[in-house]
Amino acid sequence: FNQEQFKDQLINWFKREQRTLPWRENQDPYRVWVSEIMLQQTRVDTVIPYFNHFMTLFPTPYDLAVADEQTVLKSWEGLGYYSRARNLQNAVREVVQSYEGIVPDEKQELKKLKGVGPYTLGAILSIAYDQPEPAVDGNVMRVLSRILHIEDDIAKAGTRKLFEALINEIISAENPSAFNQGLMELGALICTPKSPSCLLCPVQDHCHAFAKGIEEELPIKSSK
Ligand code: ADE
Repeated sequence: FNQEQFKDQLINWFKREQRTLPWRENQDPYRVWVSEIMLQQTRVDTVIPYFNHFMTLFPTPYDLAVADEQTVLKSWEGLGYYSRARNLQNAVREVVQSYEGIVPDEKQELKKLKGVGPYTLGAILSIAYDQPEPAVDGNVMRVLSRILHIEDDIAKAGTRKLFEALINEIISAENPSAFNQGLMELGALICTPKSPSCLLCPVQDHCHAFAKGIEEELPIKSSK
């Protein structure tokens, strides 16, 4: 497994082929945060209009902090999982009160905020702050389980840590944002759950599952 080549191919592909998405316009940590919360249980196409509307209503952490909860929940109507919105507003109020409205770039501070779990933590630190931190969601586990032929059950609670450890070893120091988003984008566009487009994959020559013809059998996911 040629790590340097893998990284370069992934990052170059991401730079070339990434979708134009509203939360990719800049690296504003607040926008990255809101987008990652919305994207956790909701598809990209659904999120786009909600994200744009949310940003016109609450363009900065301060605007969200002073809004009343009902207005925030109303803007979330149709996205579901309303605790995401409540947690986000709570956390943003904390950011305004304790950090002068600046989203912390310190892991230990950031992870204290309501609703910021391991995935969101890594996403904000890598995408907004260029820190080499893993951001492992279901898509990323699917992509890496195929490339590295990992048969651990992704439905098990402990498995995410294994993937985080692997990413810690291979993540790009120069461009952790493009590396993590490249994995996510690969999962969305090429390395899909069913009928992945392996012939178009920029890292096909690194993929153990493709070499063995078992890409559709991975990842292993027990139904519990
Ligand atoms: N899914 C989760 N995070 C994402 C992001 N930043 N861009 C596109 N899809 C995503």
